[in-house]
Amino acid sequence: MHITFAFLFATTAAVISCNAAVCASAPPASSTQYWITQPVDHFGGAGGATWQQQYLVNATFYQPGGPIYVSTPGESPVNARYIDKSHFTSLAQRTNGLLVTIEHRYFGASNPMPDLSGASLRFLTIENALADFAAFIRVAKRTPSSVFPIPVVANARVIFGGGSYSGNVAAWMRAKYPDLVLGAWASSAIVYGRLQNYQFDLSFGRHLAQLGCAQRVSQAVSEVDTILLSKNSTQLANMQAKFGIPALSASDSAGLLAAIITIYSMTPVTMVGDQLGSGVCSFFGDTTIKATDAYAAAVRSTIQQAGLTQQALIQIGDSSLGIDNYELGQVNRVWYYMSCTWFGNWQIAPPRDTMLKGYRSQLVNMAYFQTNCPKKFGSGIPVPVDVAAYNRKWFSNLNGVSNVFYTGGSLDIWRDTTVTTSYGTILPPARGSLAVLIDGATHAQDLGADYPSDLGSVRRARSLGDALVKQWLA
Ligand SMILES: *[C@@H]1O[C@H](CO)[C@@H](O)[C@H](O)[C@H]1NC(C)=O
Ligand SMILES: *[C@@H]1O[C@H](CO)[C@@H](O)[C@H](O)[C@H]1NC(C)=O
Repeated sequence: MHITFAFLFATTAAVISCNAAVCASAPPASSTQYWITQPVDHFGGAGGATWQQQYLVNATFYQPGGPIYVSTPGESPVNARYIDKSHFTSLAQRTNGLLVTIEHRYFGASNPMPDLSGASLRFLTIENALADFAAFIRVAKRTPSSVFPIPVVANARVIFGGGSYSGNVAAWMRAKYPDLVLGAWASSAIVYGRLQNYQFDLSFGRHLAQLGCAQRVSQAVSEVDTILLSKNSTQLANMQAKFGIPALSASDSAGLLAAIITIYSMTPVTMVGDQLGSGVCSFFGDTTIKATDAYAAAVRSTIQQAGLTQQALIQIGDSSLGIDNYELGQVNRVWYYMSCTWFGNWQIAPPRDTMLKGYRSQLVNMAYFQTNCPKKFGSGIPVPVDVAAYNRKWFSNLNGVSNVFYTGGSLDIWRDTTVTTSYGTILPPARGSLAVLIDGATHAQDLGADYPSDLGSVRRARSLGDALVKQWLA
């Protein structure tokens, strides 16, 4: 693919008809796709080949001199909601900002290579992903007219924001490119890698405990484990029929049940309610019903509510998570590659030697996940991934970095991979930086659009972040 333009408009007609007066009065719809040319490898590999990276712009609130709010959806395809319906939208409105969201390499329509084979994924490095965003910001500062549909003043100040993995990107961008990025809003950023991320399961348990059903869910899980570990196919089939799940192997059944029972764990908690309560815990309230029967009822109801077909359940349960498909657009495959080669974070049950109660089957263990790494991406992938080295490089580098706003929810299932862990804040304070624990909130709740039903704690966190951003900009 050799495209010689610096960028391409998806709707060329809109560009041609856009003179300065028209542009100023009506910026193009934020769903308009824009593309910037990037090298496949910013560090000299790939023979200088290039690809097109997609981004979207909401220029409605921009006034000359205002900042640029850059975000990336990380592992999700770009969507106008990242610039139209996020907390940054209201922040841009109040600070005359321009909103941009840039797709992350290998996700959505932003693909450096023609497929997702193990060999093609070798350019999926953190260094390359960050260099893509840096290249965009450099152009946006130097020659804004080459990337934006409206006139933008050169050298605009840039605030980078994101939630979950893209929160990592935000913090890393500030750490690595402080001259390009003035500050970062890193919501529920999963910056601390854990090879065996059984803390994920424990965080889920804390949320269940707050809702009053942790004990019985854990009991049900261990009862079902007796069946899964029995190697008795009659009992396995009976269990599957009772739970309404397909006839998978014992370990794939275990993985499927873990995925289903945690579906509501990332739903925002609001003044109106908590879906994990209504969707899971409500089934365990009646103690005359056996724990396993309550578990089965909760699973059947979730399958129905989420509209999951048997085919979808087979895919979710497959320990390879549908990662066999090398075609573009396979989010699970790309994310799995990142787990295999960057940060691990395998969401396993607490290993037996920890003596901790778990909320997923013992069969959801390291072998369940790690075997896929060399099998699906190439025998050269070392197992296990060196998470200590990853943390030395990509967590330690955040130490002392100024102008980063970290948030994390007390009920966030990813909490112990963020900086606001259940055992305290794990980054020392730095100038212009702040870490806020949002009481009662789940994953990246502060990044959502502002609603009247938002928890007071979420609103307070946003105000602290807003004040900090204004301080950076002042
Ligand atoms: C930008 O976002 C605002 C808030 O959602 C929306 O009203 C506006 O239409 C968007 N701008 C464009 C050009 O789509
Ligand atoms: C398997 O379980 C069934 C039902 O509990 C039981 O009747 C059968 O004897 C078991 N089979 C073996 C081989 O243990």
